[in-house]
Amino acid sequence: MGRTIRFGIIGCGLMGREFASASARWCHLTSDIPRPEIVGICDTNATSHSWFVSNFSTIVTVTADYKDLLVREDIDAIYCALPHVLHEQVYIDVIRSGKHLLGEKPFGIDQKANANILDAIRQHPEVTVRCASEFPYYPACQMLIRWIQEDRFGRMLEVKAGFNHASDLDVTKPINWKRKKAINGEYGCMGDLGIHTQHVPFRVGWVPKRVYACLSDVVTERPDGKGGTTACDTYDNATLVCTCEDRTGHEFPMFLETKRLSPGSTNDWYLRVTGMEASAHFTSEDPNAFHYLHSEGKDQAWSRVVIGSKPLFPTITGDIFEFGFSDSILQMWAAFLQEIEGVPVAFGCFTPEETRLSHALLTAALQSHETKNSVALDL
Ligand SMILES: NC(=O)c1ccc[n+]([C@@H]2O[C@H](COP(=O)([O-])OP(=O)(O)OC[C@H]3O[C@@H](n4cnc5c(N)ncnc54)[C@H](O)[C@@H]3O)[C@@H](O)[C@H]2O)c1
Repeated sequence: MGRTIRFGIIGCGLMGREFASASARWCHLTSDIPRPEIVGICDTNATSHSWFVSNFSTIVTVTADYKDLLVREDIDAIYCALPHVLHEQVYIDVIRSGKHLLGEKPFGIDQKANANILDAIRQHPEVTVRCASEFPYYPACQMLIRWIQEDRFGRMLEVKAGFNHASDLDVTKPINWKRKKAINGEYGCMGDLGIHTQHVPFRVGWVPKRVYACLSDVVTERPDGKGGTTACDTYDNATLVCTCEDRTGHEFPMFLETKRLSPGSTNDWYLRVTGMEASAHFTSEDPNAFHYLHSEGKDQAWSRVVIGSKPLFPTITGDIFEFGFSDSILQMWAAFLQEIEGVPVAFGCFTPEETRLSHALLTAALQSHETKNSVALDL
């Protein structure tokens, strides 16, 4: 067995379980990447502990107080998947404890919280800190990223990226913390879904200069789960019209949409790039396919090629087979473990600096919505 990096998980909810499950199938990866081992867990809700304890015999510390994990010498790194209002304090404490951190988006409930987290990172250059974002690791999306890096599109026409859900169309769905401004943050759906749409654009250099935002809060109350109703005060849908610049200095529009009220979208993450010479498209609703066209003559025809399982980090899965969500989580974790070791990764995890850009964009989007004007990003 190779090297091991010992992890504590803070927040044993939906995403905490996804990471633990990915760590349990590390044998799936065929390259030499250190293995994460779950040795500690923390959640204030004790009922969430039992799934972890019964599935991971390596767990030594089980606690409701995350500081119990930070003082442990048998923990090297932390995965933190907590409600947004807790990011600032907990991420800063993790960083100061000298442990590596994969934090969740939006990486601070607002721009000030994010700036404070980034200050702590600057004071602790010895720790590796990244933000979770898994969708770019679909092999068909990696193909699209390579096309961007190889400058195959010619002069850019536009970029569209989105992450859309439909489940909130059910107005009888009870409230949860992601629909409460005090816990989720003022960004609403943008804070919850936005970084997913920004990872590829920011990484390839498409950082908006200006933004015009249309934000809607359509469902204003929801069942409280106790027989009554309660305020649902977060934005449900956001459409951002951004101005970007390509490598040759030409401006082009980028449309970023994050929606919880998107009829028909179970979990639609997509990226569409159009240019004068070529265009390409990836959507998680057709997760194994790369769609592309070459602009030849008067007519253009889309082609669809099924990529199969050819991920960034090779696995035991035959390359004709299909790739899915839990595979993308495994790939993201492989990238993070490599980054902890200082190994260059062709497409790495979302960086703290990219979270700074994300907060600049979302803060400008809030101002734009308020003033009904386009707003320059304060970068
Ligand atoms: N990468 C992704 O695809 C993805 C998907 C969903 C959510 N997320 C992000 O992950 C984070 C968590 O979301 P989730 O869906 O897992 O939420 P969740 O509600 O399922 O889990 C959060 C957990 O934190 C626990 N918790 C709350 N306060 C705590 C405290 N003070 N100390 C310890 N534990 C505490 C809760 O009991 C709960 O079990 C958020 O930042 C969210 O934006 C990321």
